[in-house]
Amino acid sequence: MKKQDSVFSDRITDVPRSFIREILKVALDPSVISFAGGLPNRALFPVEALKEATSKVFDAHGRDVLQYSNSEGYPELRDYISARYREKSNLDVPVENILITSGSQQGLDLLGKIFLNDGDGVVIEEPGYLGAIQAFSLYKPEFLPVSVSSQGMDVERLSSVMSKCPKLVYTVPNFQNPSGISYTEQNRRDVSRALEGTSTILIEDNPYGDLRFTGEPHSSFKELLPDNTVLLGSFSKCIVPGFRLGWIVAPTHIMKKLITAKQATDLHTTHFTQSIVYQYLRDNNIDEHIKTIIDVYGRQCQAMLSSMQKYFPPGVTYTEPEGGMFLWVELPQNVVALDLFELAIKDKVVFVPGDPFYVNRTRTNDLRLNFSCVDEETIVTGIQRLGNAIGKIAGTGA
Ligand SMILES: Cc1ncc(COP(=O)(O)O)c(C=O)c1O
Repeated sequence: MKKQDSVFSDRITDVPRSFIREILKVALDPSVISFAGGLPNRALFPVEALKEATSKVFDAHGRDVLQYSNSEGYPELRDYISARYREKSNLDVPVENILITSGSQQGLDLLGKIFLNDGDGVVIEEPGYLGAIQAFSLYKPEFLPVSVSSQGMDVERLSSVMSKCPKLVYTVPNFQNPSGISYTEQNRRDVSRALEGTSTILIEDNPYGDLRFTGEPHSSFKELLPDNTVLLGSFSKCIVPGFRLGWIVAPTHIMKKLITAKQATDLHTTHFTQSIVYQYLRDNNIDEHIKTIIDVYGRQCQAMLSSMQKYFPPGVTYTEPEGGMFLWVELPQNVVALDLFELAIKDKVVFVPGDPFYVNRTRTNDLRLNFSCVDEETIVTGIQRLGNAIGKIAGTGA
């Protein structure tokens, strides 16, 4: 260990760095087609409506909107979230059980803070959301990876790791990041059954749930396993990510601890942006806005799927998401996605190799593609380039 490294905690030293951020630097070159990002499409940000909402907030509340505020969050915004759960998902979520957070990413950190001691078990999807792996890593858990497929979680494996009494089971059941898969209704019931009667907490992280472009919605774990489930929501994908607004829904005894952790972390989420988003939601039809996003992402996803069918060599498989922003590609066994990345970047196309989405696997033969930020024509060109690169590398067995 270098001398200057010894000042850092073990906690931070063990956290994986975001490989994605490194890749995004490469993608700044405008001639590179990037399927690597994980960002919502900036062209769809409702800028004018947010400007208007901001003026109204200042006119109505003046200086008070810049004052410190309460830890739980803006009451009207929490009311709105509660009413929307009732209206859209038929879920009864009392306002007292909602805490506004600085993005759902903060929700993950707060849950790590209140639940995890060193070595505690955390079931993580494989492949899983890198941000969750990072957030929980700070609390030095033992990760218990359970693979996901087009059906959802591998329930046999889950049942087997339940013998280790994990504190948390982390899931993204709708249009998962990174794979784009959704858990089937049956899978949700089977996962719930595996946790029934235990004290394990199931985290249902659902930032993409509203972005469904095909198929039917399924039950929330909140319905199937109400006492054990904590829900995470976000305004990042349907309004803007830059406001950093998300929320946690948790049973009362958990909520008390979360509020203490929230106070210790940052006192409260920015009151200013909460007020603006609430004003925006009052004045605009969010469902219409979501429909616009879904139309664009749905078309782009379709363009990616049909180009892959046309340009990818045999032996490459991929998921077919019903919503969200990502899909997952599995390369032939002999192809390492990191090696493909080196080749593809020369052909000016980038993606995220699978490695960072696993807690204990490297040189994997899979990768994530993002379709939210690239227009249909560019998608076709990019997938053609990628197909050529896969053909080259698979042919050489490199
Ligand atoms: C599965 C998942 N959870 C949480 C987040 C964090 O979102 P937020 O902007 O609400 O912090 C993301 C962002 O990409 C995500 O994909």
